[in-house]
Amino acid sequence: MHILCIFLGITITFLNMGFVTQKYGPGGGKRGELWRIEMKKKGVVLGTFSAKGGVGKTTTVANLGASIAQKLRNRVIVVETNMTASNLGLHLGILDPPVVIQDVIFGKNKIEEAILTTEYGLHIVAGTVAFTEELGSINLMPILDLLRKRYDLIILDSAPGFALEVIASMRCVDELLVVCQLQVPAIAGTLQSFRFAEKYKVPVLGVVMTQVMGKRFEIPLSEVRKTLKWPILAVIPEDDMVKESITRGIPVVLYAPESSAAVEYRKLAQLVLNHLKIRKKRGKARTRGRKR
Ligand SMILES: Nc1ncnc2c1ncn2[C@@H]1O[C@H](COP(=O)(O)OP(=O)(O)OP(=O)(O)O)[C@@H](O)[C@H]1O
Ligand SMILES: [Mg+2]
Repeated sequence: MHILCIFLGITITFLNMGFVTQKYGPGGGKRGELWRIEMKKKGVVLGTFSAKGGVGKTTTVANLGASIAQKLRNRVIVVETNMTASNLGLHLGILDPPVVIQDVIFGKNKIEEAILTTEYGLHIVAGTVAFTEELGSINLMPILDLLRKRYDLIILDSAPGFALEVIASMRCVDELLVVCQLQVPAIAGTLQSFRFAEKYKVPVLGVVMTQVMGKRFEIPLSEVRKTLKWPILAVIPEDDMVKESITRGIPVVLYAPESSAAVEYRKLAQLVLNHLKIRKKRGKARTRGRKR
């Protein structure tokens, strides 16, 4: 009992050091200064998908978002679209958001009321970790259309697999990143993600390989490249600093900028930024004749 109390005490102190001191605030509200609709703006919606769970999607979204926010301050937002097991907010130290994506989906609140800002320029629409409802089919399109008018980049964090909530995101994205690991189930899942992307006519930007350990049991990167036939945009190493940063509720690119994972996440962010520039130059039509 005594040991348990000490353990709980240490845990709470530790969490207080990280999570609770994180500053974030409301970014929207009807009269919110930050909510300026720029009619001409049409931001890009980037999805992150994987058939297999736990491969590093949320970690990638948090770090890609935080890195890009260093360059596009207040012009990038990460959005929770994993309605049934939301945890993107936790990666940014947000424990109990006042308005969550589920409130918006169920028509209780407007999207602008669900936007939170961080001190490092990344905006977020978080979800609740207390969701227990049954979820039917949902339509994210009107919500994302509004966000497109305000942000240059909207990054969605999706649930694993291809249930209705994932298909709802898939229907709205302009391009997608597939998150994978150097292990057979994750690679098989990536091939499945490509098939879904084809079905919904969404271009794949590339693959993000995460938690790479350099161990013998991993499939060699060269073989995976041959199998996937798709560009691998980043190889993020397994790094304890990532786990520590999640406990603190601060993306590793900010928590430990020199760590090996942070360095690779920053490279990925630069690549995405370059891609956005090229896209803008081309003035590529964002809505294509895809199945919706
Ligand atoms: N580069 C990394 N180094 C070490 N650990 C990592 C790394 N990336 C992710 N992790 C660990 O893997 C766990 C799962 O990652 P994450 O939640 O991002 O996966 P996910 O694909 O979003 O999962 P889900 O499918 O359940 O949504 C993290 O909580 C963290 O502990
Ligand atoms: Mg996740």
